[in-house]
Amino acid sequence: REGGLLDRFGRVARDLRVSVIDKCNLRCTYCMPAEGLPWMPQQQLMTGEEIARIVRVAVRQLGAEELRLTGGEPLVRKDLEDVIGRIRADHPDLPIAMTTNAVGLDRRAQALKDAGLTRLNASLDTLHPETFAELTRRPHLDKVLAGLDAAQAAGLGPIKINAVLLRGINDTEVVPLVDWAVTHGYEMRFIEDMPLDGDRSWTETQVVPAREIRGALEDVFDLSPDPRGRGAAPAERWEVRRRGHRTLAGHVGIISSVTEPFCAACTRTRVTADGRIRSCLFSHEETDLLTALRDGASDEGLAQIWRDAMWRKPRAHGSDRVGLARADFVQPERTMSAIGG
Ligand code: GTP
Ligand code: 5AD
Ligand code: SF4
Repeated sequence: REGGLLDRFGRVARDLRVSVIDKCNLRCTYCMPAEGLPWMPQQQLMTGEEIARIVRVAVRQLGAEELRLTGGEPLVRKDLEDVIGRIRADHPDLPIAMTTNAVGLDRRAQALKDAGLTRLNASLDTLHPETFAELTRRPHLDKVLAGLDAAQAAGLGPIKINAVLLRGINDTEVVPLVDWAVTHGYEMRFIEDMPLDGDRSWTETQVVPAREIRGALEDVFDLSPDPRGRGAAPAERWEVRRRGHRTLAGHVGIISSVTEPFCAACTRTRVTADGRIRSCLFSHEETDLLTALRDGASDEGLAQIWRDAMWRKPRAHGSDRVGLARADFVQPERTMSAIGG
């Protein structure tokens, strides 16, 4: 097989998501256990040079068109600016996005922009300090808000805010979060909780379904489908107007991985911080790219390993009748924090 990253179901992966570290400075209940996880030993983490090499292979041999850096929490990597700078030097026009919790971003937003970061998505599930501390197990809401201000000032936009909704915790905050986001010029996105948590205590009952999120929004706002369409994006986007107003207030996205999966249009390929290809968030199989790289494989050799890995991408949940909420669904060994979302 030559060319791009094609799978058996006709999908082509053009969006590359690279996790740069598995560690995080928060402990969100839907992601990590309170005590953290056994972190990857330093020598198993890709160096900046190795990340840059893998991105070059993806872009030059395999047709990747967009890069997103994820974690854990990418900002925990002290050399993140250097990693981005290397990638930017190789690819002047590649969109480089990042998904972050924004803790500590206030001090680094400008340097990240200068290094070549294009835009970012930030996780923020609640505007209440107590709920934030309960959900993330850390009292850092102020730091997140300061990080967002700095990101906006540095021109790291358009900024999207990700909120995972949990029943009985932050499910009453749909409208307040949109109000807040619209005021700040952020795009608010609501995410159904997926069974990828470290505690392995996910239950369907804690998921707030997309249908209900749309309903809560429509009680207050006028929603219309984004005319630009969705493409392969996980989020279904809506234009938001205040009731009875004609001017656009902003956009919201709803990411319905559990109740309305979008796998049929998936264009994503992932690499973990220890250099393993994951063809899907929910794959049980991983393919070791880093060992081949360290053993001296050529660019074309690495590309071929990647093509073979993606060819075996599962059709994925829902469409193969094994929904995430079904009893026969088996959660992958790696948790969200070690995949990168
Ligand atoms: P944009 O390009 O800005 O739309 O980014 P994104 O939404 O693809 O990335 P982000 O990291 O912000 O992810 C937001 C949510 O979507 C997270 O909960 C991700 O886990 C989820 N997500 C991203 N890609 C996939 C995917 O391929 N499948 C599923 N089920 N969820 C995904
Ligand atoms: N289900 C859905 N989204 C999750 N995220 C983390 N864990 C989960 C989960 N179990 C989100 C984070 C971040 C993005 C990378 O994934 O909030 O915004
Ligand atoms: Fe793609 Fe897998 Fe996500 Fe479905 S669950 S959209 S196949 S990465």
